[in-house]
Amino acid sequence: MKKLLVVSLFVLCIVFALGKTYKVGTEATFPPFEYVENGEIVGFDVDLIKAIAEAEGFDVEFVDMSFDSLIPALVSGNIDIVIAAMTINEERAEVVDFSDPYWTANQSVVVKGGSGKGLTVLFGDNSIGAQTGTTGDLWIEEELQNTGILTGQVKRYESFVLAFTDLENENVDALVLDEPVAERYAKDRNVDIVGLILTNEEYGIAINKDNKALLESINNGLEKLEDSGELLEIVGKYF
Ligand code: ARG
Repeated sequence: MKKLLVVSLFVLCIVFALGKTYKVGTEATFPPFEYVENGEIVGFDVDLIKAIAEAEGFDVEFVDMSFDSLIPALVSGNIDIVIAAMTINEERAEVVDFSDPYWTANQSVVVKGGSGKGLTVLFGDNSIGAQTGTTGDLWIEEELQNTGILTGQVKRYESFVLAFTDLENENVDALVLDEPVAERYAKDRNVDIVGLILTNEEYGIAINKDNKALLESINNGLEKLEDSGELLEIVGKYF
């Protein structure tokens, strides 16, 4: 009987020590925040959530999916956390909770390198591309399409790898996406950044609204990393 008690206690300790494993959803064509390198999902966001997990005593496992399916997956409980350079906005905050902001960014306009195209590419009968469901996509729709400034097509892409290939192949005239990511693509693809749109967006980590304890833990972890200087170290690694 005593032996059984000792064994059960032992098992219980192991279970607690292992902590919980949370499923983290992202869309990994968004360097330097999340991208695939040697078959592995890496990037600023990946290091950030891993560091938070370590500070808070839980484990994470990553799931790569299309950007527009991240929030539905979080709401339905298929994943527990979203970290995907996701902008905090009202629409999204109605269905999920966001952590404290961890980054700010603007949008930029990207064209094929050497095409001679400028910011006027956004006017008239051109085709403009974005990743489906992103704030860039929304901006094109609201500011260009609905206003009649853009009379051409809006092309929506599931992945930025495809979007940039289409841009280089002249199947789309320009792309609108987050500036730090555009900068990164401009380093190794034949594209030019021709404009900045000051949207002043803040990125947050998203959590299911029913999981307030996890939200609190993530905010705690973020604060710990800020205080310890670890956050700055991660920034330095990717920027
Ligand atoms: N910040 C933009 C948004 O929230 C784009 C994010 C795209 N992220 C990604 N991992 N593909 O809509």
